Amino acid sequence: MTTIKNTLIFIFILLYSFSVLSAQTVEEIIKERKSIFSKNYKTAKRVNSLASNGNLDETKKLIIEMSDNYKRLIDLFPENSKVGFGTEALPSIWEHKDEFNLLMTKASSNMIELTSAIDGAEDMKVTLGKYMWSNCKSCHSKFRAEH
Ligand code: HEC
Repeated sequence: MTTIKNTLIFIFILLYSFSVLSAQTVEEIIKERKSIFSKNYKTAKRVNSLASNGNLDETKKLIIEMSDNYKRLIDLFPENSKVGFGTEALPSIWEHKDEFNLLMTKASSNMIELTSAIDGAEDMKVTLGKYMWSNCKSCHSKFRAEH
């Protein structure tokens, strides 16, 4: 009996230490997502100018970075990160989590589609608008506070 008890206590301590070690604090989570969005914004502006200048290989590398960043962002909106640390995330994110995640996934996969769409694009501005900028707007209008 004592052996079972000790084993259970041991397992409990082990699991507890793992969860403490792996858990990001709320502050870290909010800061990380903000910094990824800021980075994506800078990258999107670089994509605009590189693509307009016809530097498509370099553009594609940046587009894929943005796509990966969106995938990481999906994990950065846990239930405990609704308020604080200057977040502009609206409560609607957690009320419509499926829709929010779907938009994030769409933003990511549209970037992959963009890597081929820029080849031979008739109007680069329209193409970038369709696959890149429109997603920022459709998500912000519903899920990010006015700033
Ligand atoms: C699926 C939703 C979604 C998409 C797509 C999206 N954003 Fe955002 N964005 C957000 C949310 C939510 C926040 C607020 C995050 C916070 O403050 O915690 C945000 C914040 C930001 C910020 C502020 C970061 C900071 O430092 O506070 C910038 C800049 C930004 N987004 C740019 C963009 C750009 C540019 C695009 C498109 C290329 C984009 N976002 C696409 C949801 C999205």
